[in-house]
Amino acid sequence: MNPSLKATVVSLLAGLALSGTALPERFFAQGTATVTSASWVESAFPFFSSIVDARKAGPGFPANNLTPRGIVVRVGPETWAAFDVDLLRISAIWRGKGVTPVALAPGSYNHPDRKTPGGQSPLPEPDGAVWLANGIYPGWQIGDDVSLVDSREPAPSREEVGRGPLPEALGRFSAIRQVSNGVVLEYRVGGAMVREQMEEVHTNDAWTFAREFQVAPSMQPLALVLGLTTSDVSIAVQGGGVSLARVPLAPLDSGWTWVAHLPPHQQPVGFIATFTHGGEAALNASHISLDPAPRRWTQEVITRVARSASKEAYVVDDVALPLDNPWQRSVRPADIQFLKDGTGAVVTLDGDVWIVRGLHDSSGTARWRRFASGLHEPLTLAVRDDQIYVFDRNGIWRLRDTNGDGEADVHELFSNAFAQTADLREFPSMIRLAPGGEFVIAKGGQEAATFGKHNGSVLRISADGRTATVLGYGFRQPNIGVNIRTGLVTASDQQGNYIPSTPLHVVGDAQFYGFLSDKKPREVYPAPIAEPLTWIPHAANASAMSQIWLFGARMGPLNDALVYIGFNNPELFRVLLNDRTAKLQAAVVSITKAFDFPPLHGSVDPADGQLYITGFQILGWGTTATRLAGLGRVRYTGVPSTVPSRIIPMDKGVLLRFDLPLERSTAVNPDNYSLATWHYTRTYQYGSPQFKADGTTGIDLLIPASAYLSNDGHAVFVGVPGMSPVMQMRIGWSLATAGRMKFQDTAYFTPYELPKFSPRVEGFGDITVDLSPRVRTGTADAPVSAEEGRRLYKAYGCIACHAVDDSSLTKLGPTWKGLYGTDRTIAGGVVRVNADEAYIRQSILEPAAKVVEGYERGEVSMPSYAGVLSDSQIESLILFIKSLR
Ligand code: HEC
Repeated sequence: MNPSLKATVVSLLAGLALSGTALPERFFAQGTATVTSASWVESAFPFFSSIVDARKAGPGFPANNLTPRGIVVRVGPETWAAFDVDLLRISAIWRGKGVTPVALAPGSYNHPDRKTPGGQSPLPEPDGAVWLANGIYPGWQIGDDVSLVDSREPAPSREEVGRGPLPEALGRFSAIRQVSNGVVLEYRVGGAMVREQMEEVHTNDAWTFAREFQVAPSMQPLALVLGLTTSDVSIAVQGGGVSLARVPLAPLDSGWTWVAHLPPHQQPVGFIATFTHGGEAALNASHISLDPAPRRWTQEVITRVARSASKEAYVVDDVALPLDNPWQRSVRPADIQFLKDGTGAVVTLDGDVWIVRGLHDSSGTARWRRFASGLHEPLTLAVRDDQIYVFDRNGIWRLRDTNGDGEADVHELFSNAFAQTADLREFPSMIRLAPGGEFVIAKGGQEAATFGKHNGSVLRISADGRTATVLGYGFRQPNIGVNIRTGLVTASDQQGNYIPSTPLHVVGDAQFYGFLSDKKPREVYPAPIAEPLTWIPHAANASAMSQIWLFGARMGPLNDALVYIGFNNPELFRVLLNDRTAKLQAAVVSITKAFDFPPLHGSVDPADGQLYITGFQILGWGTTATRLAGLGRVRYTGVPSTVPSRIIPMDKGVLLRFDLPLERSTAVNPDNYSLATWHYTRTYQYGSPQFKADGTTGIDLLIPASAYLSNDGHAVFVGVPGMSPVMQMRIGWSLATAGRMKFQDTAYFTPYELPKFSPRVEGFGDITVDLSPRVRTGTADAPVSAEEGRRLYKAYGCIACHAVDDSSLTKLGPTWKGLYGTDRTIAGGVVRVNADEAYIRQSILEPAAKVVEGYERGEVSMPSYAGVLSDSQIESLILFIKSLR
């Protein structure tokens, strides 16, 4: 531990001891980031969530048995039962370990260098011997006749089993309740509430697995499909007038399955189904106790909050994560939302929710408590009426602490009224509260194996959770923002195939947003494609995350502003909406880059009005950040901010407005502004080169002719000849405040329409904008050198994907170390080429021409830099690569 940290921990302890606080429940995190975690599946927790692929469970078992939404209950130390929350069936019971650790969270848990998996293979499988299984049909049915087919509406790929829940009239999963002796599953069948508890009993030579039920009154007969077992199992049912029958599986599979028939009943009934291996079954139906489980995580973990010493207007403070905790639990925070009193709720990729208090206190410490676990790779949460809603692969859970002990004992499935496939990239990316108590969710796309119903979509969930409506589809990996006052939904997407650069969209009207899986015929679009609010070049922002409205913030000029998060190059941007035209437009500009972890999502703490942002990295989500995970507080220091408040492209130039007065002589010098424009093309290839107006690669420079300062000194109008609508415009400025503080920045926007500039209306008085062409001096590139190459490597984001040493941690492309002059093996053939200057130049300009073996099917491909980098810049990069021996 570093000595100053140690000193802080010691003084903290001293401080708390002096203040007389009871200490036994405190755990002081040592602040080290290299704590090793225990295993992802915790033996002290009764369930976890996972995809369960039991399609290869063995001969005689159903061959289509895949569960995209599974609750895996630990019934005994080595006994596991997977419950399918969509079909209300037990999909498999096995003895052994949990599931094979191949999915996103378990796969990367203690292996940050393991690449993010995609598609539908390999998927988590029961890690042990399966002895009971069911195929893809409802586990509970209404009536006397049992049907062993899946009657849910098929997905676009008919073989896709992730079709969402059963119709509500047939049945719906309700909750997992943690009780003193395990868990109770709750669901409705027809109108009747069913409670189920599983247990195992060992007696002499026999071993019995039991499913125990309590069923509320039902006027209709109900049937429970028990499943197919290995031949050494004998099955019995007892109680409730239940009888046992066998139903043939044909036509899908051969053999038959056991079914329990429950007659109509006016009073609640209990019954038990036992599965016995050797000997006689030893169980009787008893009462299912609903006593909440006792507290599991009694300790509070204390961490430091370190204030940034930076003198900027917006700085990032660091809140140490409880990485060092009594349960050796990994903490990869994905999202943070707040209760009304400023208590934070943090959700982690590993399925936990932590409660964090004191973030805004003057004490400089944060107090963490574990609140919930067992969730299915959640990345996001929302708070409504002080209740926590987590969106994971199972759906949206409402986490309830029914006995007030500070831990969730009921996971209530508030909504799964939409589909989820087993595709590992159908991430449950985001949930946000919308006006009227509704929610908006965003789901990942890409679809490498099948086409599902809701992959790559943004959906609205009704306030009661019962219906889901598609707001937009055809996203690659959307991340959203919701204006809680107006209901406006925005979404970003990730550059990739079909997505030529980073877009920021408005979502609604069920439009198509342009992404097609590479499994589909190339460039056959099913609909017109929605145009974004603005494009953002990949070099400026390679992957956009949350958009956040700073309502209730105390962040000076950013109060009520829309901001968004850049992940790849960690950054916070301001989005300046421009509603002067028929189509809403926007410009984006940087606020701060001071993150050392890759930021994902966040929100404003109502207690201090500052913005808290969480994030973590795993291999495959490209980032230039150095730290694996973090929680940052974007704090307004009160220093005047030079972030513009308005950027409006117009017919005669660009209007920029600031929150502070500008120094006149720099403001009115047109040489202090630079402008460029270019286009992208949308193709099946990854990303897009940049094109000039004449269709050749490159960018068009626009030379400003004049510049004017407004009468109040806060705005400038830059006169630009040749303004016209274009996909991407960039404006840079290098100015000074009236207080003579120099500043410079760049903004990006897509001018669809250029409204007329009226000097009087905009506060410039009676000026005539001079648009006579000027010749620009001093715009040549920096001299060609390896040093300039190193600078470009960072500035243009090559660093996100290429290492320049032997390490390959979090890098998505080949290392450049020793690359120059070696033989490269090209994918799709046995071609070997020498990595000479021509090869490197082609790799940068036409990356798809020769793809290095092993990188053909990566999550991320090399984008083309044609038109982005000038010839001399490419020369510098080549010199830099050459220098890496
Ligand atoms: C989003 C990730 C990403 C970024 C950003 C990126 N690359 Fe790449 N790059 C790749 C991948 C993946 C490959 C291997 C596939 C291929 O050859 O196209 C690659 C291959 C290359 C190669 C060939 C390497 C070899 O081993 O043969 C060169 C040279 C290269 N990139 C240069 C650059 C430069 C220069 C930049 C920045 C201006 C850059 N890359 C930015 C992902 C990236």
